[in-house]
Amino acid sequence: MRVNDRHYRTVWHIDTDPETIWIIDQRHLPFEFVEEPLRNVVDVAEAISDMHVRGAGCIGATAGYGMYLAVAEALRKDEFDVSLHASSKLLINTRPTAVNLAWAVETQLEAISKTQDLKEKKNIALQTAKRIANEDVEACAAIGQNGLPLIKQIAKKKSGEVVNILTHCNAGWLAFVDYGSATAPIYAAHDSGIPVHVWVDETRPRNQGARLTAWELAGHGVPHTVISDNAGGFLMQTGQVDLVITGTDRTTHTGDVANKIGTYLKALAAFDNDVPFYVALPSSTFDWQIKDGLRQVPIEQRCSCEVTQISGLVGNKEQTVQIIPDGSPAANPAFDITPGRLITGLITERGICRSSEKGIRSLFPERFNAA
Ligand code: MRU
Repeated sequence: MRVNDRHYRTVWHIDTDPETIWIIDQRHLPFEFVEEPLRNVVDVAEAISDMHVRGAGCIGATAGYGMYLAVAEALRKDEFDVSLHASSKLLINTRPTAVNLAWAVETQLEAISKTQDLKEKKNIALQTAKRIANEDVEACAAIGQNGLPLIKQIAKKKSGEVVNILTHCNAGWLAFVDYGSATAPIYAAHDSGIPVHVWVDETRPRNQGARLTAWELAGHGVPHTVISDNAGGFLMQTGQVDLVITGTDRTTHTGDVANKIGTYLKALAAFDNDVPFYVALPSSTFDWQIKDGLRQVPIEQRCSCEVTQISGLVGNKEQTVQIIPDGSPAANPAFDITPGRLITGLITERGICRSSEKGIRSLFPERFNAA
């Protein structure tokens, strides 16, 4: 997407500076736009765990490039395999919930194992990192085209009146390499002239909606309004939401969706009010192994400081303030599980399906045949 008249991805590599990976350091948005170089595996691991980059596709692609730096580092060590193994563990352990991270590391390990020539391993790792990033971009672009008819149909039913779409957290281009998942159909609709308006859940505690989704939509000229997380139910009851689209960090092949905390409550409200509730994802976000989201998806428990404090702009400087009494404990589960029965459909790069084993099988039969 464009920022200051330049096309950006969230993570990139420049061939003339071969052992550096570049990212947008998302911690500073929307107040400052900062590009950050990552020069080794520890830099990459810190960037993921401290959320300089975040969002399932983006951390997957960043980990993919991290594995390329891991191979470069391992080549300088006596024990190539020991070093590579330690780096892959370091990267996989940075964040537990989004499955794209482990998927990208495993994709790299498999690709790298195809040759015994150590120098060739480095070349393969770079090509694989680029492929992971490019496939993420292609999948998100396809999700945009596959989700577009949903918005078109609603616009037609409303005789061209504005289509109101609610989204949670940031499943925009910042959460991927480009386009985003939940936002891709919205950008496609806006670009094709359909009048859309987005209700942006602020998404406490880290406010990825208020900080990142609002910044993204504003940058693309998409009309939007930031709302408190608690407003969505009322807006649905009063007919002000035509469609909900969220992203996901991991979806079981049986259709349970792990996404940013608060998604489940939005799905319940949508179900009760007959508002279509879609989840958009590239196939790299499916977990083909596990069946039971609630019992088997590891839910990240983040620092309680994200609940006890809040950050914002004071004058022209970002500051953090405490918002609860001294000594009150706080808890911070970062993701929740929405069962497939509350979801109208999944929007994937191959099309739309029900959020059930049968529905997912209809789009990705080869995954089930292999199991
Ligand atoms: O904690 P984050 O910001 O990495 O969480 C990811 C998210 O932004 C959302 O849950 C998103 O909908 C899924 S990632 C495409």
